[in-house]
This record gives sequence, C-alpha cells and structure tokens, in this order.
Amino acid sequence: MTAQQFIPKPYTSSIENGSFTWSSPSNIALVKYWGKKENQIPENPSISFTLNDCKTTTRLSFSKKESADDFSFEVFLDDEKKDDFKPKIETFFKRIEAYLPFLKQYHFKIETTNTFPHSSGIASSASGMSALALCLMSVEKELVERDVTLSAVERSFEKDFFIQKASFLARLGSGSACRSLEGDLGVWGKHDAIDGSSDLFGVKYPFEVHENFKNYQDTILLVDKGEKQVSSTVGHNLMHGHPFAQERFKQADKNLTDIISILKSGDLDKFIKLVESEALTLHAMMMTSMPYFILMKPNTLEIINKIWVFRQKTGSKVCFTLDAGANVHVLYPENECEDVLEFIKSELVAYCQKGHYISDRIGFGAKLL
Ligand code: DP6
Repeated sequence: MTAQQFIPKPYTSSIENGSFTWSSPSNIALVKYWGKKENQIPENPSISFTLNDCKTTTRLSFSKKESADDFSFEVFLDDEKKDDFKPKIETFFKRIEAYLPFLKQYHFKIETTNTFPHSSGIASSASGMSALALCLMSVEKELVERDVTLSAVERSFEKDFFIQKASFLARLGSGSACRSLEGDLGVWGKHDAIDGSSDLFGVKYPFEVHENFKNYQDTILLVDKGEKQVSSTVGHNLMHGHPFAQERFKQADKNLTDIISILKSGDLDKFIKLVESEALTLHAMMMTSMPYFILMKPNTLEIINKIWVFRQKTGSKVCFTLDAGANVHVLYPENECEDVLEFIKSELVAYCQKGHYISDRIGFGAKLL
C-alpha cells in the first residue's frame, strides 16, 4: 500500500449539505511510538489497548460554499466556540487535502465533546483526530456512492478500505490516533511478524489474545491535569540526533515481537516487565533528550513505588504504564478488579489531583452514531 492509493478519482457527484456523527476512543500504548520521520511516519512500530469509556464524539456538519479557495470551518467543544483548536485542524486539513479533494468545497461545523474532562491531562488528540477523520470519510463515502460515472464496484465502498483510509487520515492528524479506530488492540508501523502492518495506517491486532487480557482494566490516575510543558510533537522531534535513538527503535521492534507471544500465552509476569519497561524507557528518552525534560511528577513516582510494593506483598498482576505526561495508567486483569480498586482507593487516590481518577477498560473502537 502506498499513500497514492488513498487519492480518490475526481468526484463528479455533489451533495449540498449534511452531517455525520462518530464517536472514537482514546488508546493507551503498550509498546510506545516515540520518534517520527517526515509525514508522520513512525520510527518504530507500536501497539495499544483501545479504551472503552474515554472517547470523543464529533458531529461534522457540512454545506457547499460558493468558492473553493480556502478551508472554511468552525470548531465547538461542548457547545463553546474554540478558535484555539483551529490551527491544529487547519494543519490537519492541509496534510489531508490531497486525499480528500472536497475539503475546500464545503464549510464545516465541527462539534465535539469528550467523555473525559478537557483539562484532565488526557490527550484528546487520538480520539478527537480519529473521530474527525471518520466523519470526513463518511462524507467521501457518500460522494463516491452517489457518483453515477463510477461502476457499481467502484461505488461500493469496502468497509476495510473505509477504516484503513480513516486511519491513514487520522495518522496525519496525530500519529497515535490511527490506532484508535478498532479494538481490542491496535498496531501501527511496519513489523515483519505482523502481516498487513503499515507505517501509513493502524490495523487491528490480527493474532490470538489470551483470556487473561480480555476486558483488561485501565484506571487512569490523574496526577496532573495541567498543560504539559513539552508537547508530544516537540518530544518526537527531539529523537532526531538523540544519542540512544537507534537502540530505542530496535528495542521497540523487539518488544513488539515479544509481546505477540506474551499476548498469546497470557504470561502476565512477562507482560508486566515489558509494559513497565516501555513506559520508563519513554520517559528516559525525554530525560536524555537535548534539551532534556521531565514530564513525571513526584506523585507519579510515589504511585509507581506503591504499585511495586503492592505487587510484592500480594502477588497481584497489576502494573502501570505512562503516556507523555504525569498521569499513571494502572493496568490489571478483570479478575483483580475488586482488590485493585480497593488498593487504588486506599493508597493511590491520595496522589491524584483533587483525588480524581477515571475507570476505563479495553474497548472495541469507533462507532457511527
Ligand atoms: C507517548 O500521537 O500524540 O502517547 O503524532 O505528534 O500527534 P503526534 O504525537 P502523539 O504521540 C503519542 C506518544 C505516546 C506514545 C503512543 O501513544 O504510542
């Protein structure tokens, strides 16, 4: 597959106006994407659990406009106009224009809501960009289906192609967004052991997953809800010329190979080692960048230590992972729900800002509403 294959034939049909609504979840990486080449191509493959409850719902309304000179859109978050979101969306539109040539022909109203608070420190880019990409794909699907100059086969939009192109577009908005479309696990980045994996889009993890990982739980401890000092985009760029970058990319590739057998066998001890090491390596890359930075907070470390002690004492299979921030994702099998929640409430909530946390679990991807 090449990017060229996502460029459609010129549309001959036209729609005056309409709207589509999609909800799309966030995801949490087990093997992390950190470092990218030009055009949002990842330096290494990554894999994530798709989440269930942390999601964005986006309604895209569109109406044909007179001139097709410029992009025209407005953005609302929870019914409030958000002009500060516009530059990111404008960049996204520029990156995807060649693949969706109708973009300048319409005025768009983008109305979005998140199930998690905007100021939770949980990035909404994965869920937000994937929901928007899906809405835009629905517009394209309608244009293609109404095109009488196309053959019946060309008009019938294959579901697989729809998802693949939506993921391809979402990637151009935010890399990790391309893993959010399907569940329960998403893979992005070419990996020799995974047929069909690609640097251009995310795919549903194609192999057997052991019962132990079914309905896996993710309780997100909100340690710091503020704006991050360093955005992911800046962090990715600091991997260029990073002294440990090449070793890190190799390690991620190997971890992806290893996690395939772990997911199959259900070996939770190996899973814990791999996932926690990935989280700490991600932050180690930040600490060894130039300029260097630290996104963990003292309470992030307090929580990690408490998890290690709890595991030692009880034999629990609870573990943690981190994204590019201070919050801690506490991962555990469904059969430990009661004990781990009790542990979280009695020992970890004290380290969360205002005692806030979000209980989530593995989910199955985006939905057209
Ligand atoms: C640490 O996808 O947010 O969460 O492509 O620049 O938008 P951009 O970056 P983004 O980076 C996510 C990094 C991560 C790891 C991961 O999700 O794999």
